[in-house]
Amino acid sequence: TVENGVRTFRLAAQPGTHEFVPGKPAESMGYNGAYLGPTLRASRGEKVRVLAENRLPDATTLHFHGMMLPAAQDGGPHAMIGPGASTSPEWTVDQPAATLWYHPHPHGNTEKQVSYGLAGLFFVDEGPQAGLPQDYGVDDIPLVVQDRRLDANGKLTFDPSGNSLGTLGNSIAANGTLGAVLPVTTQRVRLRILNASAGRWFTFGFADRRKFHMVASDGGLLAAPLALDAVQLSPAERAEIVVELKAGESVMLRSFAPDLGRVNPPEAFGGGKEFDVVRLDAAASLAPSPALPAAFTELPAPAGTTTAVSRSFTFNGRTINNKTMDMNRTDFTAVPGGSEVWFVDNVSAYQHNLHIHGVQFRLVDIDGKQPPPERAGWKDTIPLLPREQNRIALRMPQWSDPEHPYMYHCHLLTHEDEGMMGQFTVV
Ligand code: C2O
Ligand code: CU
Ligand code: CU
Repeated sequence: TVENGVRTFRLAAQPGTHEFVPGKPAESMGYNGAYLGPTLRASRGEKVRVLAENRLPDATTLHFHGMMLPAAQDGGPHAMIGPGASTSPEWTVDQPAATLWYHPHPHGNTEKQVSYGLAGLFFVDEGPQAGLPQDYGVDDIPLVVQDRRLDANGKLTFDPSGNSLGTLGNSIAANGTLGAVLPVTTQRVRLRILNASAGRWFTFGFADRRKFHMVASDGGLLAAPLALDAVQLSPAERAEIVVELKAGESVMLRSFAPDLGRVNPPEAFGGGKEFDVVRLDAAASLAPSPALPAAFTELPAPAGTTTAVSRSFTFNGRTINNKTMDMNRTDFTAVPGGSEVWFVDNVSAYQHNLHIHGVQFRLVDIDGKQPPPERAGWKDTIPLLPREQNRIALRMPQWSDPEHPYMYHCHLLTHEDEGMMGQFTVV
């Protein structure tokens, strides 16, 4: 609803039960319901307010992942909402159209809350998008994909100590449903895919290896539609893809074995496995869809690498630069709107990733080589494979605030909970 010119959303985090396996209710959590949360939508330029209520027995926070907003509104681990308490962050949306998301961020308890179902999408709109399917729920489909570790009774379980990645699931849920089926009524369908798993990498593609077009990454549209037969997403990354179907056909969206680089053996770290995600069933006759445009937008070159402040980060075990998270330590201070270049090395034998709050950044290179085109657009999360150096270029948030820090961290939720996180202020 719009109240006094402010688009207002209400989210209540609450416990419930959700049936992953029919007839076997599992303890779960969700926003305004038993599992996951509603898709929020706001347009660039709009003022928004989120009335967030905590009906859980534990403290939580409400973080807006990918949103460019002041640190005080970002819902990181300092913004705790006690049981029974509420908060109402408010900001003006000012960034390109994108598929963002929201989830809790209580330090040490994020994996549990996200995995129990506290996660939802947040679409930023910027006017009609010519050539793109945009009828929500009809040809523009949210797809929150999570691996779930279910026991024989269909209950959600955790095993953070299972291996170095934390909990890896044995079943795949798409929008909370195992063995999901999506009826398709249009020639082309847009899937807005979020990897909302705690630790699992996915490589999405279709069982028949048909080509699709990736149209957007974490922070917005790519320069042009990109023809691919698979796109890999680490936890928290998003991809929007458009796929074409023929009347009457069925095709499975799968996750193929991910490319984990030097991880050895990949099977020990979530590699080597394939999963069905959702089956697309096309109706006997399909409504026509617009053709994809040849190009979307000019993406600016990654920002000024010569004048930028440069920083180095080494990811190792559960540490960043040999330190684990300290809520009372500010790791560095940045200048509002300042240009920065970060060199990020993963020296672990297994994968991590990097997410930064409050910004959308660009990947400059990986080991000095051009990034793959699916990661050449706006990103807020990038995979860090072992013994690779990723270089990124960022424009820091524009809001000065010495009191409230922004986080940067590994988005493998067990790693994050165990302290693979740091914080900076913008002053
Ligand atoms: Cu998706 Cu620090 O979060
Ligand atoms: Cu975030
Ligand atoms: Cu990690």
